[in-house]
Amino acid sequence: MTISFERHLNPNPTPDAEREEILKAPVFGAKLTDHQVLIVWEKDKGWHSAQVIPYGPIMMDPSAAVLHYGQEIFEGIKAYRHQDGSIWTFRPMENAKRMQRSAKRLALPELPTELFLQSLKELIAVDGAWVPAPVDEKTLYFRPFEIAAENFLGVRAAHRAEYRVIASPVGPYFTGGLKPVKIWIALDSARAGRHGTGEAKTGGNYAASLQAQNEGYEHGCSQVMFLDAESATYIEELGGMNLFFVYKDGSVTTPALDGTILHGITRSSVIQLIKDRGLKLEERKITLEEVRQGMNAGDIVEVFACGTAAVITPVGQFLSKNETLGQENSEPGQLTASLREELTGIQYGTVEDRHNWLVKLS
Ligand code: PLP
Ligand code: COI
Repeated sequence: MTISFERHLNPNPTPDAEREEILKAPVFGAKLTDHQVLIVWEKDKGWHSAQVIPYGPIMMDPSAAVLHYGQEIFEGIKAYRHQDGSIWTFRPMENAKRMQRSAKRLALPELPTELFLQSLKELIAVDGAWVPAPVDEKTLYFRPFEIAAENFLGVRAAHRAEYRVIASPVGPYFTGGLKPVKIWIALDSARAGRHGTGEAKTGGNYAASLQAQNEGYEHGCSQVMFLDAESATYIEELGGMNLFFVYKDGSVTTPALDGTILHGITRSSVIQLIKDRGLKLEERKITLEEVRQGMNAGDIVEVFACGTAAVITPVGQFLSKNETLGQENSEPGQLTASLREELTGIQYGTVEDRHNWLVKLS
C-alpha cells in the first residue's frame, strides 16, 4: 500500500548556520528537525490524510484517549549518511513489523509496512540536510509513534488514531563513548509481567522503569536492569537495551525472548554477527546468580548492552543495594569493541552489508 503524501513546507525552517551548529554536537532528542509526518486513521475510513507538515505542537483535546489510558506505541530507527552523501536506514521492515505487533497488543491500528518505509523517505525528502556527516557516530534518529487520538473518556480502543514521525539528530547515547557503563539492578520494581506489554514498544513500559532509573542515577548508574517479575531470578533486559554476556571460552549468551523482553533489532543483528564468526551463541534463561558467580569467578569476561540508541555499549558493573559486581574503571571487552565496529561499519557503509540490512532513503 503506498499513498500519496501532501507536503506543507515549514515557512520558518531552522537557518542553515543554526542547523550546522546543532549538527556539530547533537544531544539525543534535544533538537528536532523542521518537519513531521502525520497519517490519520479512523475506524470507518482506515489510514488517510498522509502528510508532511511543519514540526510543531499537537493540538489535542484534554479528553484525548492517549492522555488517560496510555494507548501509545513508538519505534526508534536511524538514518545514516554514507561518505558519498547518500542516506540509508537499517532493517526498517523489522521496525515496521514490530510496530504492527505493538499496535496489535495495544489495540491500535496496524500501519502497513510499505507506509512505514514511505513515511521515513518522505521526511528525509524534506529534512535530509539534518542527517549529520558520518563522524563520531552521528545519525538522525527517527521516532515514529502512534497515539489514540479520539476525544472520548470511555475505556475502549480508540476509533481514531494518529501516526507521526519526528526526527532528532543524535550523537552517542552515552556521553562517555566506549567507557563501560554502570547498571543498577532493579530489585523492587518490575517492568513487565507474563502476558503483559513487555514485548510491545509502548510508553507505559518506560514509565514503569523510571522510578528504578532514578534510584540508579542516585547510585551513579546510567541504566537499570530488570529481572523477571514473577520470581526476580532471571535477567530480562535494561530499560532501553538488550543484554549480552561473553564467557571466557568465547561463547556468548543473551536472555531468550520469553514474552516480556523487547525483540531488539540490534539484538537480532548482533546474534547474526556472532554466529557469522562461528562463535557459540545461546538464547536462554540466565539467572542473576549465574551472572554473579560468573563475574566474580572471571568466567564472564565481557558484558554489553545494545539497542538502536545505544548501539553496542560495554557494561562495566552491576550495582544493587546489596552488592557490586565487576570492576570499577574496566576496559571495554575485545568482542564488544569489535562487534560495535563491525555493526557501525555496516550501518555507515564502510563494511560489506552481506545480509542486505541497509535500505536507501535518499
Ligand atoms: N529493549 C528496550 C526496552 C528498548 O527500548 C530497546 C530500544 O529500542 C531495545 C531493547 C533495543 O531494541 P532495538 O535494538 O530494536 O533498538
Ligand atoms: C531506542 O534505542 O530506539 C530506544 O527507543 C531506547 C531508548 C533508550 C531511547
